Amino acid sequence: MRDQTNRGQQAGTAANGGGPGVAPIIRLAGVRKSFGAQVVLDGIDLDIEPAKTTVIMGPSGCGKSVTLKHMVGLLRPDAGEVYFRGRRVDTLREREWLPIRLEVGLLFQMGALFDSMTVLENVCFPLRENTDLSASARVDRAREALEVVDMLGYDERLPAQLSGGQRKRVALARAIVLRPAVVLYDEPTTGLDPVRSDGINQLILKLQRTLGVTNIVVTHDLTSARTVADRVVMLLGGKIAADGTMAALARSPDRRVQHFLTGTYVAEEIPETTEAPAGAGLAEEA
Ligand SMILES: Nc1ncnc2c1ncn2[C@@H]1O[C@H](COP(=O)(O)OP(=O)(O)OP(=O)(O)O)[C@@H](O)[C@H]1O
Ligand SMILES: [Mg+2]
Repeated sequence: MRDQTNRGQQAGTAANGGGPGVAPIIRLAGVRKSFGAQVVLDGIDLDIEPAKTTVIMGPSGCGKSVTLKHMVGLLRPDAGEVYFRGRRVDTLREREWLPIRLEVGLLFQMGALFDSMTVLENVCFPLRENTDLSASARVDRAREALEVVDMLGYDERLPAQLSGGQRKRVALARAIVLRPAVVLYDEPTTGLDPVRSDGINQLILKLQRTLGVTNIVVTHDLTSARTVADRVVMLLGGKIAADGTMAALARSPDRRVQHFLTGTYVAEEIPETTEAPAGAGLAEEA
């Protein structure tokens, strides 16, 4: 494989204060993913340090959700490897992913609560599917999770009877009810007003600080990134264009990164994805 090492990788790790001794909880190594002729991830190397909050940013369509899906086995790389706690997982069978998914909570981009279930039933659902807990123990655990997101007292409501921010919080309760070591958030603040967004940001920090959760947050929300990030990884054109603290990113010499951070639209600088040159990549992956 070509050398696709990310320039910022070392700096980013050092900026985390982690250093070489900390084993990553999740590792993507040379991950490539295409859909048809469209190259979405073009050799991503990413080590996620435990008990930190890593933010993944980048323009719409750059592959942020695709990256998260590789971390939970919802997508498989065309080339490269995915590791969870040092174990290679991209080659696992679907059934073998199940115990890993118990350790990784995913807050989907759309929130996706079950419309016909109450708040409490929604949060109990992963417990019912994945544990042997009794009904009353499930309710206790679900209430604990609802308390974390400050949604106790809404147990009997249906999702349609909640605001967008409340739905996100319930979805977050559902994502954490199995007490995962890692929580992946896909656009957790999108569509929320600044106060509700801050509420979600504070929850993300609380999970990290009080429960030692490893957070991976996909967002375009710069305020959110500034609030929660130990480290920011910027995806552009299928590669990691910058990696470090928010302050380090602000000093990035890459003009595309500067333009993203200042919200300056320069179309040719932020192609949604790279097109595969004719024949490229295929031989390499075979
Ligand atoms: N299952 C799929 N089949 C085909 N193309 C896909 C699939 N999933 C994602 N893509 C394409 O891959 C690219 C990256 O998608 P992805 O959802 O990761 O973007 P994103 O960075 O999360 O964008 P947004 O900020 O809008 O959510 C897009 O062009 C998308 O159309
Ligand atoms: Mg997305």
